[in-house]
Amino acid sequence: MQSLVLPFLVLLLSVPAVRSANILYAEDSNATDYIRTSCAATLYKDVCYSTLCRYARAIRNDPDRLARVAISVSLSRARRMAEYVSNLSRQADYGAGPRAAAALHDCFTNFGDAVDEIKGSLNQMRGLDTSSQESFRFQMSNVQTWMSAALTDEETCTDGFEDVPEGPVKSDVNNRATGVKQVTSNALALVNSFVNQASP
Ligand SMILES: *[C@@H]1O[C@H](CO)[C@@H](O)[C@H](O)[C@H]1NC(C)=O
Ligand SMILES: *[C@@H]1O[C@H](CO)[C@@H](O)[C@H](O)[C@H]1NC(C)=O
Repeated sequence: MQSLVLPFLVLLLSVPAVRSANILYAEDSNATDYIRTSCAATLYKDVCYSTLCRYARAIRNDPDRLARVAISVSLSRARRMAEYVSNLSRQADYGAGPRAAAALHDCFTNFGDAVDEIKGSLNQMRGLDTSSQESFRFQMSNVQTWMSAALTDEETCTDGFEDVPEGPVKSDVNNRATGVKQVTSNALALVNSFVNQASP
């Protein structure tokens, strides 16, 4: 008797849990589908999906939230890069050569500027005034301008290493900067998609 009742009870108790897990799963897969579809508008689609899918629940199929999250991700990546370059720069004082030291110093400035521009974009998006189409367009054109300026600054960092002899510092900075440029480029593309969807 005991051995028959127990499995039955277990089954009975677990049904609602299974059902709600399935609903959650459906919502999550819906949200990640949305991110995958939206990432098709970017240049680095796989990077886009892999950096944003963990925020699927917060984004909830909203192009405004998607753009904001993408900007936040690029902000934290650019900040980390500035810190990394600053660390390297301190170490480079002990022997990476004067060209590498100068390039690192400039790169730190470039990423510092990019951080300011991305931060400005995020603040603009957070306080977005959508009361008129005109003010919406104006604010979004600021965001587009600042995000593309950030991308240019990040490119200037790697350009600055062109004359630096090949070596671990150069390849390391170039590889990391490429990663940050990709998330910044993607964020700009998602901002552009949001503007296109919101404008009639
Ligand atoms: C999935 O998204 C669509 C529209 O984006 C919505 O109508 C539908 O209810 C969603 N399904 C779930 C399970 O959240
Ligand atoms: C920079 O250096 C500090 C102190 O050594 C370290 O804690 C930090 O993780 C480094 N940051 C990066 C991005 O490498």
